[in-house]
Amino acid sequence: MADEALVKNKQVVLKNYVNAGLPKESDMEIKEKSIQLKVPEGTKDSILVKNLYLSCDPYMRNRMKKLEDSYVPSFEPGSAISGYGVAKVVDSTHPEYKNGDLVWGMTGWEEYSLLTAPGLLFKIQHTDVPLTYYTGLLGMAGMTAYTGFYEICTPKKGEYVYVSAASGAVGQLVGQFAKLLDCYVVGSAGSKEKIDLLKNKFGFDEAFNYKEEPDLDAALKRYFPEGIDIYFENVGGKMLDAVLLNMRVHGRIAVCGMISQYNNDKPEATHNLMYIIPKRVRMQGFIVSDFYHLYPKYLEMVIPSIKEGKITYIEDVAEGIESAPTALIGLFIGRNVGKQLVVVSRD
Ligand SMILES: NC(=O)c1ccc[n+]([C@@H]2O[C@H](COP(=O)([O-])OP(=O)(O)OC[C@H]3O[C@@H](n4cnc5c(N)ncnc54)[C@H](OP(=O)(O)O)[C@@H]3O)[C@@H](O)[C@H]2O)c1
Repeated sequence: MADEALVKNKQVVLKNYVNAGLPKESDMEIKEKSIQLKVPEGTKDSILVKNLYLSCDPYMRNRMKKLEDSYVPSFEPGSAISGYGVAKVVDSTHPEYKNGDLVWGMTGWEEYSLLTAPGLLFKIQHTDVPLTYYTGLLGMAGMTAYTGFYEICTPKKGEYVYVSAASGAVGQLVGQFAKLLDCYVVGSAGSKEKIDLLKNKFGFDEAFNYKEEPDLDAALKRYFPEGIDIYFENVGGKMLDAVLLNMRVHGRIAVCGMISQYNNDKPEATHNLMYIIPKRVRMQGFIVSDFYHLYPKYLEMVIPSIKEGKITYIEDVAEGIESAPTALIGLFIGRNVGKQLVVVSRD
């Protein structure tokens, strides 16, 4: 193969495992390799994609650790990391994909990726909405909010709903879905700007900055004098302990994530679990990929809601693949305002 058939391919590479502590930019590096914009001869069922947008997701923190028994494999130090993204098919030997198709799903954190036997990939059918939405609202985060709220929380009209990390990729949608059901919705987040968004952009009834609350139990009692029917758990730790004191009888807790614990060497203890007994609380963890069969149903519900202006979405856009490590790390210090994504290329 002649050299001119090769193009440069910048990649985000993890240098070494980061088992505990806040990851640093220097734990990752941008490396330049080269790649042929063609699926190699004789390689069946594969596609070569140009990555357009990358999705920064908290679960990626666990992939930076050396874990033997995780539901998703650890990254390989020295290689490009992988994650959700939006991409365009450049070459294909896969019967279901052709050149020019737009897809979202698992790809490499690099400019171009060869996806052999792509598994977690969806063809993008609706292009009359912003393409970046497929990193969040119309992608994994949207499906997480949808299945977590509707399937796990089994909500009823008018219930009392609390969402933590409420202004983020998932949280902002959970709150809006709950408002569509006429629920009373309170969110917490970590800055004044985020609290303003919750109340004035996403339509939450109330919102508070958890960093300014010395007593989380008292804060929850202030906003939920009659208790919480549904808690959409995104953070864990002290927040979960406070929520457990404030659940109503037959309340539901959807355990979506516990971001406050991801950098800890050992998880913090939860002290108030016994309160789920007298309150008959159902607390259930879930992983979004178990629910991807519901994606067409989700699109059917959410696309019209977007077009009618009933659902809105805030994105935090970082420009260029070089900005990816900083953008990813920002999730763990609350730097992102809304869904954090990285633009690799706009076409
Ligand atoms: N189960 C699943 O299948 C699934 C799928 C997707 C996501 N998740 C989980 O859902 C949660 C939200 O994910 P996302 O993509 O929507 O992220 P996100 O909310 O857009 O970003 C993460 C946010 O978490 C907050 N945060 C960071 N450290 C924190 C701490 N120590 N205590 C409290 N809050 C902290 C920050 O907001 P503040 O400024 O408000 O602190 C930060 O902006 C995460 O726990 C994630 O792991 C689970």
